[in-house]
Amino acid sequence: MSYRIALVCLGNICRSPMAHVVLEDRLAKAGLDDRVEVVSAGTGGWHEGESMDSRAADVLRSAGYDPSRHVARTFNTDWFVENDLLLAMDLSNQADMSDQAPTVAEQARVRMFREFDPEAIEGDVEVPDPWYGGASGFAAVLAMIERTTDQLVEQLPDLLES
Ligand code: 4NP
Repeated sequence: MSYRIALVCLGNICRSPMAHVVLEDRLAKAGLDDRVEVVSAGTGGWHEGESMDSRAADVLRSAGYDPSRHVARTFNTDWFVENDLLLAMDLSNQADMSDQAPTVAEQARVRMFREFDPEAIEGDVEVPDPWYGGASGFAAVLAMIERTTDQLVEQLPDLLES
């Protein structure tokens, strides 16, 4: 059975899909893709079934990734059962996920993606939503996602054993 990582943002068309693509790339490079499965979702369901935002897809494609396979999904309470590691992109995503936890104890399982960011300073835990901005916001988000994902994959052997 594989270890499952769920990446969650608001719409599942910008931040979590970008992190999904980058994490799958790094897992393949680390030879962990047969042991770890990645899924992503939005806490809001407006974009369910849609492909990635074109600005997110463009910045990924420019950096050599394939954004074409993404299909937006919506987070629900079953994800607590189905996934081992639940990572929120921002604090409102974390709160919305916790609200759907099947038990109070399960609420504590929702962690922040940027917990793994080697450059994060104290209190700086969110991946900012690039939706309302331009291409430079998406490029900054990709850089943040790449360095965070590298650290996450480095820590995965410990997580797989825990
Ligand atoms: P995401 O960005 O949460 O990173 O996918 C957003 C996408 C869509 C909306 C908001 C944020 N929206 O309001 O539709």
